[in-house]
Amino acid sequence: MAVRRLAEQQPTSFAFSEANLAWARKEITKYPEGRQASAVIPILWKAQEQEGWISEPAIRFIAEFLDMATIRVLEVATFYTMFLLAPVGRKAHIQVCGTTPCWLRGANDIKDVCRHRIHHDQFHISENGDFSWEEVECLGACVNAPLVQINADTYEDLTPESFGKLLDDIAAGRAILAGPQVDRSFSAPLGGPTTLTDAALYATQTTEGGEGAPLTDSSAKKPGDAASNRESPMPKPPLTNNPDERRS
Ligand code: FES
Repeated sequence: MAVRRLAEQQPTSFAFSEANLAWARKEITKYPEGRQASAVIPILWKAQEQEGWISEPAIRFIAEFLDMATIRVLEVATFYTMFLLAPVGRKAHIQVCGTTPCWLRGANDIKDVCRHRIHHDQFHISENGDFSWEEVECLGACVNAPLVQINADTYEDLTPESFGKLLDDIAAGRAILAGPQVDRSFSAPLGGPTTLTDAALYATQTTEGGEGAPLTDSSAKKPGDAASNRESPMPKPPLTNNPDERRS
């Protein structure tokens, strides 16, 4: 893993907004007295949500807020790559997965788009201030490689063209759709299922023993009868302890 250092240029101070401060105070009540340091990750995350990145004053503020040594908060912020240690683009910070499955499926082409449209080097902000990018390790959606993450969502099955359109839409403030950018539902095969396509496989049994409507995704979540009301064979009586009765 690359060495992660704080940015050279730092703001002079950090403070939570009123709403975020109230949220942070409530967050630490989730932990037992004296264990408020356990809230360090969610509170760092809230600071990043507010500012876009984690600054050195934010680390000091959080250390004081949680009664921790500053070095302990610094350790957490610099260990987890989800914490961004330098300012990022105003409209989006693009995290491009460069791990093997994404690499095999064209991640280098996606990085080339970043180099041309955002900045030649990762962790630099585009000239207009809108975008920044970085290469990250596996984002856990390899089945739809290659992909990028923007904030909490992933944008998958990208080509240089579809990724370029994504950047255009973000720049223009148009709504973007997370998930696959091709004709695919979640991680199902392109173009729809190719196996187990016989509808009879999904038919339900009626009480008369015939076939009912096929199961849908929500079928499994429908509440059924309580177990005590279901028709079932009578339970067997417990084994007796009397050896004479056991023999008979
Ligand atoms: S390798 Fe890219 S998401 Fe796993």
